Amino acid sequence: MRHHPAIDCFCMRLPFLAVAAVCILSAQSLRSLADERGIHFGAAVAPSHFSETAYASVLAREFNQVEPENAMKFGPIHPAPDTYNFAPADAIVAFAQAHGMAVRGHTLVWHNQRPAWLTGGTFTPDQLFSILQDHIKKVVGHYAGKVYAWDVVNEAFESDGTLRKTMWSHAPGIGLEGAGYIEQALKWAHDTDPKALLFYNDFSAETVNQKSDAIFKMAEDFKSRGVPLDGIGMQMHISSKPQPLPGIEANMKRITDLGLQVQITELDVKLPVDASGEATPAWLEAQAKVYRDIVALCLKNPRCTAIQTWGFTDKYSWIPGSSKGNGAALEFDAAYQPKPAYTAILSALEGRP
Ligand code: G3I
Repeated sequence: MRHHPAIDCFCMRLPFLAVAAVCILSAQSLRSLADERGIHFGAAVAPSHFSETAYASVLAREFNQVEPENAMKFGPIHPAPDTYNFAPADAIVAFAQAHGMAVRGHTLVWHNQRPAWLTGGTFTPDQLFSILQDHIKKVVGHYAGKVYAWDVVNEAFESDGTLRKTMWSHAPGIGLEGAGYIEQALKWAHDTDPKALLFYNDFSAETVNQKSDAIFKMAEDFKSRGVPLDGIGMQMHISSKPQPLPGIEANMKRITDLGLQVQITELDVKLPVDASGEATPAWLEAQAKVYRDIVALCLKNPRCTAIQTWGFTDKYSWIPGSSKGNGAALEFDAAYQPKPAYTAILSALEGRP
């Protein structure tokens, strides 16, 4: 039995016939199965690739959600104090609307990818308060009704569970104690688009550990005080080594038991690769297992509402550029051919072991 991404083709040898093949054709894709399961299956994208036919057609065929990999971040979208560059992210929204896909927004408050006018400037906490308020209101306002969920704050905790010292928190900060700036950002986003789902998003906080404990405590506090937080984003930049599945499941459960959603927002599974970026078949199989396990884990929890990979083709993954000797992290190879990881995701979405 073999699978093709768009056409599911089951070929079998029939008794009494030398060679007979029966192909049952059905329009099966990650997207169609995700639709059937009632979840979002998305990919991070860059609009500069939309003109590439294979990129655009695989994206539209396989995914029911997109998220800008960079285009909505503070630096790209707000390059000068009074200038907003919405065009690249607008192109992503237009692509999504043309193909009936949902859009996640990423990200309003982060310590990375800030514009030079912000990193090079000197601001008082009062000034930064106004800058951040204006930024959130302008960006969320521009996409109100178009972006269904936002990563409002990204990566605000250190691995030991302390708050990261950033321009928005303490250095110099917007003038609010502790996680006060996160709470304030959520309130500004909610006031601007009350229908958007608001997420806190982080990495290496998938299982139960010091960082996820701190995020959970914050979420619990926010829920108890009615702060508008709808969910936690688990980035899931992982490798092919066996994952702590019981710990991830337990962490998801404690979050969703608060009434929050969980979304897997940036899944990729990096592999050791050779000089031409190729991984061995054994590594690709190990990777497929990890993808299958993570997708199955999300599907087990009814409040895990989206799974998104950080890109979809190895051609444009961030991994080789940031992790020397690693790559091949996504479900399609650099020529847009489905990898074992793709088939594993399909079977997890179908509920097959
Ligand atoms: O667009 C400019 C281009 O004009 C310039 O010529 C070129 C020269 O370096 O840089 C281009 O910008 C790069 C940008 O990606 C777009 O390609 C930046 O240098 C580069 O730093 C940036 O990297 C992004 C990274 O975030 C920044 O921290 C990656 O693409 C993106 O995948 C990555 O995404 C993050 C998530 O937002 C948060 N979680 C972790 C994840 C991986 O780091």
